[in-house]
Amino acid sequence: MPEQVPLDFLGDLRRTHSCGQLRASDAGSRSLVMGWVHRRRDLGGVIFIHLRDRDGVTQVVFHSDEKFAAVHEKAEMLRSEYVIAVEGRVVLRDKETINPDIPTGEVEIVADKIWILNESKTPPFPMEENVDVSEDARLKYRYVDLRRPRMQRNIMLRSKLSFAIREELYRQGFLEIETPFLTKSTPEGARDFLVPSRTSPGEFYALPQSPQIFKQLLMISGFEKYFQIVRCFRDEDLRADRQPEFTQIDLEMSFPQQETIFSTIEPLLERVCAVAGFSGVKAPFPRLTYAQAMRSYGIDKPDLRLPPFYCVEDLFPVDENFATPGLPIAAIVIPNVGPIARRERDEIKAFGVERGLRVFDDVKRLERDFPEVMAKVRERASAGENDLLILAGWVGEGKGPIPEYTVLQAAGQLRLHCGQKFNDRHKLLDPTDFRFLWVLDFPMFEWDEEDKRWVAAHHPFTSVHDEDIDKLTADPARCRAKSYDIVLNGTELGSGSIRIHRRDVQSAVFSSLGLSMEEAQTKFGFLLEALEHGAPPHGGIALGLDRLVMILAGEKSLRDVIPFPKTAKGTDLMCEAPSEVPDKSLRDLHIRLATKK
Ligand code: AMO
Repeated sequence: MPEQVPLDFLGDLRRTHSCGQLRASDAGSRSLVMGWVHRRRDLGGVIFIHLRDRDGVTQVVFHSDEKFAAVHEKAEMLRSEYVIAVEGRVVLRDKETINPDIPTGEVEIVADKIWILNESKTPPFPMEENVDVSEDARLKYRYVDLRRPRMQRNIMLRSKLSFAIREELYRQGFLEIETPFLTKSTPEGARDFLVPSRTSPGEFYALPQSPQIFKQLLMISGFEKYFQIVRCFRDEDLRADRQPEFTQIDLEMSFPQQETIFSTIEPLLERVCAVAGFSGVKAPFPRLTYAQAMRSYGIDKPDLRLPPFYCVEDLFPVDENFATPGLPIAAIVIPNVGPIARRERDEIKAFGVERGLRVFDDVKRLERDFPEVMAKVRERASAGENDLLILAGWVGEGKGPIPEYTVLQAAGQLRLHCGQKFNDRHKLLDPTDFRFLWVLDFPMFEWDEEDKRWVAAHHPFTSVHDEDIDKLTADPARCRAKSYDIVLNGTELGSGSIRIHRRDVQSAVFSSLGLSMEEAQTKFGFLLEALEHGAPPHGGIALGLDRLVMILAGEKSLRDVIPFPKTAKGTDLMCEAPSEVPDKSLRDLHIRLATKK
């Protein structure tokens, strides 16, 4: 520590104002503020600093005339991010020095006392809002990064939203109940994080991928309405919208219809958006079945800010050289794009072809070859002259268990790609245009190509539509679940379902998933048994809090709304986790490493 900076004690100093609080009406009063030196300008005779705390920034002035000489001398030692307290008189700024960009911009404090509470090394990067800083530096010095105004805003928004969520769910009669972190594996499609047991050699707890089974047990216990804002852990490949530990707004209800869940979540989301400053979001939210979503958007989480595509295969003459009969031809329209360059057209075509599509990008030529058909296509797809119109079909054999979906999915990707590509021109993807959507009636099963078996599309506790029960084994591909997703601007925000509450049905679903009686008993025996002890019909949903905050904060990565996130490799650069542990710790846990670093 450089000797020349004498540090002061906090003693019994108390703040009178925060750094965002002072206004013109405070002029003439005295103020004692504390915070970090955000910016410092030394104009010889006068030193200006911007003092920052979480509430804002206040300008403090240190004059050098005799009366203030001692304070000025100390202020000369200040550097970025020093922690100080200052006291002085609040004065109105001259007209020409008023700063309209900050709420305290009409006043400044003329300091007559200063305490340097702590110094700071030169920060690893500037605190300014719009400075590009490498992700690694931000994560290594996260405590500094979190001081930056954008991160302060995001984390404070997160806290405000959590509070609003609690308030709303309490208002609706939910109870907040905790569930264990050291538990047994609950499968949600990812790998578990395992915790070795010291007292049961060779055995492991799993950190919960979600509280799914516990919340069902709480319904069996008669609590009727449960919620929790809860950490979940999944060891899966990370993406911008995935973290290994993330937070769910998790809830479950007894005796619900699907409608009951929707009418719980819709006011919750309305309120959350209003708290984030977007009061225009109004329920009821639109709904699409999974089959409709696929047929109009080629994806189960459509971004409604872009128009749907239209299937137009019925308008074209059957010709397998043109497109495979029976498979869709999607007319994709991106409004108001205007003429596009050859190079852009080639790129779009290549994108589609890579995904197996036949892309008819040369609409003029199609219009020459099929003038009447194309007139109908334009009409169905409401495609104007200034809109980009692309047709995407398939030649050759269909692929996958439902070939139609393979084509639609590829067309959906092309639609999104074009929407994003030309977003600069037509501004459809406005980040403050929040388009919620319910997607219902998901398939119960998905085909796992690697393991060559059906797996639960949501999770194995989801109930099947009453009229599809006989398809459980006869036609799993078309068996619909009582499950639903809430989607926001192309992101899956939450997922839920009406659960199986009868043991016989649960056993049948386990067996459709290829689980033997013994396996089902070993993994879920306690749930099966609980289902035999008066389990009420129940259902619920879990929303990703991190994703919700990310979208409402206008961010593109979960890392910008989680205080201490992990890198894409799942590491914590600040505390260097994961890390090796002493041999003794391993011995205590009865663990011997097969390979050592
Ligand atoms: P699901 O697995 O769909 O459902 O998860 C619900 C929501 O949690 C969020 N989410 C994630 N957020 C960040 N990082 C991740 N790795 C991650 N994984 C999931 C998403 C997702 O929509 N137990 C069921 C819910 C239920 O049926 O009630 C479940 O966990 O926003």
